Amino acid sequence: MAFEPEHAALQGFKTIIEPFRIHSTQQIPFPTREERLEAIRKAGWNLFGLRSEDVIIDMLTDSGTGAMSARQWAGMMEGDETYAGSRSYYAFRDAVHEITGFQEVIPTHQGRAAERILFSILGGKGKVIPSNTHFDTTRANVEYSGAKAVDLVIQEGRIPSSEHPFKGNMDIAALDKCISEVGAENVPVVMLTVTNNSGGGQPVSLENIRAVRAVCDKYKVPFFLDACRFAENAWFIKMREASCAHMTPMEIANAMFAQADGCTMSAKKDGMANIGGFLAMKCPEVAARCRDLLILTEGFPTYGGLAGYDMEAIAIGLREALDPLYLCYRARSTAYLAEKATSAGVPIMKPVGGHAVYLDASALLPHIPREEFPAQALALALYVEGGVRGCEIGSLMFGDVAKMELVRLAMPRRTYTQSHLDYVGEVIERVAAKARAKELNGYRIVEQSQWLRHFTVKLEPLQAYKL
Ligand code: F0G
Repeated sequence: MAFEPEHAALQGFKTIIEPFRIHSTQQIPFPTREERLEAIRKAGWNLFGLRSEDVIIDMLTDSGTGAMSARQWAGMMEGDETYAGSRSYYAFRDAVHEITGFQEVIPTHQGRAAERILFSILGGKGKVIPSNTHFDTTRANVEYSGAKAVDLVIQEGRIPSSEHPFKGNMDIAALDKCISEVGAENVPVVMLTVTNNSGGGQPVSLENIRAVRAVCDKYKVPFFLDACRFAENAWFIKMREASCAHMTPMEIANAMFAQADGCTMSAKKDGMANIGGFLAMKCPEVAARCRDLLILTEGFPTYGGLAGYDMEAIAIGLREALDPLYLCYRARSTAYLAEKATSAGVPIMKPVGGHAVYLDASALLPHIPREEFPAQALALALYVEGGVRGCEIGSLMFGDVAKMELVRLAMPRRTYTQSHLDYVGEVIERVAAKARAKELNGYRIVEQSQWLRHFTVKLEPLQAYKL
């Protein structure tokens, strides 16, 4: 890694360490293999159906699962629970403004609440909303409004083995073509997910963000970032985009947001908080309409479904997420797990993203066709064999529009240590041996819902799970 930590104490040493020490711990449960098999059977072979006590290392998501800092906890004690005009709201608004530059800051209880409000206003029948790749809740909220969600990530972004440094980039020519074909009047907003979660946690370059802006200017279409992992994206820009190497993560984040007209944000990711989100934008008229909807379901505009103490935690967390020592450690620990998977012979989505390692199930399990959910089969094996809970990102989650069959092992922020990752590496190794021996089988759906089926779907193994 090219980054030289500025901190004098670290200079000259190769080992990148956690820039924090542990102040408070939580017990890890250790269910046996038999208990795990029983638990997953009862959960209908759906990892979302497990209880936390059934899981040893939980890599289901990096959303809301991180450890807060002592400064955040201290900030929570300062939380102002005033219904209207809370001091904590203004601390929150100032932090969001400092990073994004947006004047209009609307708190929401999490990212999807911001999406629902935005697309209720901008979406609707006949509208088309392009993105590099819509996250599942984003796609669902777009489609629920009656609009069409279109994914236009660059070609390399769909090839797990490609080493392109910015595989989250938008295909600019495809975006231009899409808007000119459907008509700018039918494209109420262009979204860009940074980093591109559903596409393997891949970053988007500042150059590409500027190019999206130029297309949006050409057609006079607003441009919003889905900014959940903006700090990790800024870090990758610093590491991989030569013209930005001298900039701080904060300066890069400022430059990213300066290109956009607004953003949706889940503060459960790079807000370093356990709950929260926001919708922020330049346009006061659209913001006023959003606030009307906010009051209907989320709350008054100075709390929007959050406690005052949540807004304090986010205000501090947003700035902590941009600390170069934290970001350096974060990228390194994800890369460390990726090295473990690679040395176990498991193909992964390359290059390694910021918040997760994505195992390429279609490459590891060529004998399981996509209709039998190879990535779910791999995720379930990791759980049964070692109590590691990951998440399928493939045909079970996205149905026919799935581009890849991946298992995401997400890294909760500041939560697991290097030896936890060593353990996960061993579990991957054991499962890979079983996969190569064709001991993993496919699954079929027994029960499913209309929206976001992966959360509640019930499955059945096509052959009994090998003991
Ligand atoms: N956009 C992206 C890119 C996301 O990754 C998420 C959540 C959301 C929006 C929605 O935010 O959960 O606060 O409502 N991603 C989590 C995940 C759930 O596991 O990747 P939310």
